[in-house]
Amino acid sequence: MTDTLTHWDKVYRSKNHTKVSWYQDHATISFDWILECTNKDDSIIDVGSGVSILADNLLDEGYSNISLLELSPTAIQATEDRLADQSDKISFYNENILDFETDTQYDLWHDRAVFHFLTDEKEQQTYIKKLNQYLKPKGFFVLATFAPTGPKQCSDLNIVQYDTDKIIPLLGNNFTLIKTTSETHPHPNGSTQDFNYFLFQKH
Ligand SMILES: C[S@@+](CC[C@H](N)C(=O)[O-])C[C@H]1O[C@@H](n2cnc3c(N)ncnc32)[C@H](O)[C@@H]1O
Repeated sequence: MTDTLTHWDKVYRSKNHTKVSWYQDHATISFDWILECTNKDDSIIDVGSGVSILADNLLDEGYSNISLLELSPTAIQATEDRLADQSDKISFYNENILDFETDTQYDLWHDRAVFHFLTDEKEQQTYIKKLNQYLKPKGFFVLATFAPTGPKQCSDLNIVQYDTDKIIPLLGNNFTLIKTTSETHPHPNGSTQDFNYFLFQKH
């Protein structure tokens, strides 16, 4: 069986980065919510950043303390190359979030379409432990997952669909849901994908 790293790196080596199903030319909801709840010098981590445009959007807005964590070496290298002239404002981590260790405490943790790939309960709990460990008290967690009306798979992998009833008890008592919204994301093949976005604050 192909391991997760090999799977994702193959995706980024074989596909045009603007043709992947999760491509956005502006990370609208994530960007708007991050602006609402952070200052421009706050520490922000984008977990499973892929080749997302979110960092570019935040840098253009004046953010200066961004961490990008991504499993695929090809994806993180492409992002490093794209943002080379602003590398003093970004830390790049080519890692699996489940193994991530850091001394940094983040003001905001962003995850679009990454946590939902964790179908194993133990892996979900490991992720949530890292989130608790590395997010500051009063820090924010922006999570985007496929909705129950959305796809059951992405990139040939099974995913878990979330709504508020499912994600709130899973995260546990340390987090309060501030707001949620849904988005219908256009797939390059002409279909659509229903996402749910959740904004949580840690106690
Ligand atoms: C569907 S893509 C979303 C990429 C990006 N967040 C976006 O919105 O454009 C999922 C990403 O998560 C990465 N990923 C999957 N599992 C991961 C893990 N355990 N640790 C870090 N990154 C992971 C994949 O390599 C891929 O880039």
